[in-house]
Amino acid sequence: MRAIIVDNPGGPEQLRIGEVQRPEPKPHELLVKVKAASVNRADILQRQGNYPPPPSTSEILGLDAAGVVVDKGDQVLAWENDERVMALVPGGGYAEYVTIPEQMALPIPDNLSFTDAASIPEAFLTAYQAIVWYGQLKKRETALIHAGASGVGTAAIQLARTIGAKIIVTAGSDEKVNFCEMLGADLGVNYKEDDFATAVRNFTQGKGADVIVDFIGADYWDRNMASLAVDGRIVILATLGGALIEQFNIRDLFKKRGQLTTSSLRSRPLDYKVRLTRDFGGFALPRFNSGELKPVIDSVYSWQMAVEAHNHMEANANKGKIVLTID
Ligand SMILES: NC(=O)c1ccc[n+]([C@@H]2O[C@H](COP(=O)([O-])OP(=O)(O)OC[C@H]3O[C@@H](n4cnc5c(N)ncnc54)[C@H](OP(=O)(O)O)[C@@H]3O)[C@@H](O)[C@H]2O)c1
Repeated sequence: MRAIIVDNPGGPEQLRIGEVQRPEPKPHELLVKVKAASVNRADILQRQGNYPPPPSTSEILGLDAAGVVVDKGDQVLAWENDERVMALVPGGGYAEYVTIPEQMALPIPDNLSFTDAASIPEAFLTAYQAIVWYGQLKKRETALIHAGASGVGTAAIQLARTIGAKIIVTAGSDEKVNFCEMLGADLGVNYKEDDFATAVRNFTQGKGADVIVDFIGADYWDRNMASLAVDGRIVILATLGGALIEQFNIRDLFKKRGQLTTSSLRSRPLDYKVRLTRDFGGFALPRFNSGELKPVIDSVYSWQMAVEAHNHMEANANKGKIVLTID
């Protein structure tokens, strides 16, 4: 089959379509003809050689896929050929075919295209884990969502809105801030112009944010501490702004009785991902059906243009997801 291959670790120019062996479904797996896959930040890190796939998983880029079941292992009972499915995968989305453990597959709602569906698994499962499982965000609480216009951020805004929480986002331009506000954020802060800690304090009348979803890390640590409400929860999912905090006084966290969580979804064992997927599916599929939740797609590229798609993400230019169509 054809797949996107990384010739050598490096820039986007290393991406090209080549021939690799087609995967065979194991007894509990589906073989899916991929129609679309999304681009994720992790793909860029892996392409650069900085994020190797977990052991015994595909070396091919791509953390999610949407397509059609074309074959299945002999123990699969729940799925038939020709069904439309989407799934989180530990790798292998940028290819003509991918295998998926049957319990990881979610049916694509009838009102969504393959392109729509490909934008959902990685972004929404990550956001669901952060907002619902770890953040335990509740109605009328306040969520501070950093990188609000990112793929994960746009999913987190929608989930927080569905829960009935107040939402503050940060983003790097007024255009992105406006976009987040259109998606349901109550307050957007252009972090390049304004201090988000001051904005959070003013918006919450000094109380702070109950849940902070952070991808930035060290750069935001002090301001996150200042922005956290008593009994607040911080979920750190990435360190785009550095990992080393020069000074960290544990008492700052104590004062808030704060909970700090980190997570990396890709390295989780399969049973965890299955539980997350099933829980998310029960919550979100009816809401995608009704239109309450929507895929947020910035741009769609043919997979022949994967170089351009990666460049677009690396320029921080996307609002929502970038999707590759696989033909
Ligand atoms: N831990 C996990 O399990 C997990 C799973 C999925 C994704 N992630 C992480 O979540 C993050 C979002 O992923 P994504 O695919 O949704 O990304 P994305 O759509 O590419 O968005 C990332 C955005 O982050 C902002 N940003 C980048 N560097 C920044 C910096 N130094 N300071 C402040 N903002 C910065 C940029 O927006 P602005 O223009 O607003 O600055 C950029 O567009 C990535 O870091 C990814 O690795 C983690």
